[in-house]
Amino acid sequence: MEKEIVYLDRNEHNYGPPPSVYQILKNADLTKISWYSRSFMTGSKSKLAAYLSEKFGLPEKNILLGYGGEDILKQVVHCYISFDRTQRTLLIPRYSWWYYKAIADEVDGKTVTFPIYQDGDQFRFDIDGMKRVYREEKPDMILISSPNNPTGNSLSLEDLKQVIEAVDQDTVIVLDEAYALYANPDTSYIKPLIEETPNLLLVRSFSKYYGLAGLRIGYGFMGNGLSKFAKFSARYLGYNRLSEEIAIAAMEEKGYYEEINRKMKEDKALFAKELGSMEGFTVFRSDANFILVEIPETMVQGLKRFMNDKGLIIKFMNEDGFTHHLRISLGTQEQNQRVIEAIKAYVRG
Ligand SMILES: Cc1ncc(COP(=O)(O)O)c(C=O)c1O
Repeated sequence: MEKEIVYLDRNEHNYGPPPSVYQILKNADLTKISWYSRSFMTGSKSKLAAYLSEKFGLPEKNILLGYGGEDILKQVVHCYISFDRTQRTLLIPRYSWWYYKAIADEVDGKTVTFPIYQDGDQFRFDIDGMKRVYREEKPDMILISSPNNPTGNSLSLEDLKQVIEAVDQDTVIVLDEAYALYANPDTSYIKPLIEETPNLLLVRSFSKYYGLAGLRIGYGFMGNGLSKFAKFSARYLGYNRLSEEIAIAAMEEKGYYEEINRKMKEDKALFAKELGSMEGFTVFRSDANFILVEIPETMVQGLKRFMNDKGLIIKFMNEDGFTHHLRISLGTQEQNQRVIEAIKAYVRG
């Protein structure tokens, strides 16, 4: 019998989307795939943009769609950080998703970092440190993920407001909120924030909370000062029409996802209790669907082999600051239990 492999290394969603999403696919009008959407004829970007506009109370010109948060982030960085006579600068937290520097590198941008520090069993952004680096480096863009990957900590609304106040309006502020719904189901702050902050872009995803990573669809909200980006990101022939319908169906299933998030919160507490009490282990608090765990350096190679042999694929980090750390994406409760038992069994020897 083939060994079942459980992937818990890329922050995907092991519960999968709700049945109504599969229903959309089953009943889809497949003739749609031969035709571009004609939304633009009605003055709308797309069906999903119109839906998001209504849901979040913002005009469609402030709504943005893309092939995942990945695509929107690449677009905005390429738009504002492209080498143009002088080199442009991107400011990111010292520990963040490796992808941010990679997309700045693609257009010969310079990346600088501000401090993020460990405070007991959690990480915190150093906002004063951010302001200091901002004054020294005068970056063209600040990009922060909240909750942050891989550290799991969030930027509070108060801290975000401090960032906004500290920077000039010609500095673009990008907040990557791919994991935000795990931390906070309340999205009412988005409308006033976008209305008040012309240089702000919020990027969101359907991949994580909604379990639609394979669909490659993401969305965002942009302030009125980002007109260069509004032009840069325009899509004249529309988006993926089936993906849009699936995304809307998922957003309608609030209760389904809330229940999963409740289970994930329970499991984060379980990981902290079960692994956090072992010598040399620190389980960091996380607002997202993954947890960062520091383990004894001597265990890295052996534990990696042991977990792989069991078909439990978790991420063994190997980057600046995180050389003996695991990033474990939360799976179903049964999968999480298996991960905990496996790690404990390895440590027991
Ligand atoms: C912080 C962060 N932002 C964005 C993404 C990409 O999400 P999407 O699937 O919407 O492209 C990821 C994926 O791992 C991520 O970790």
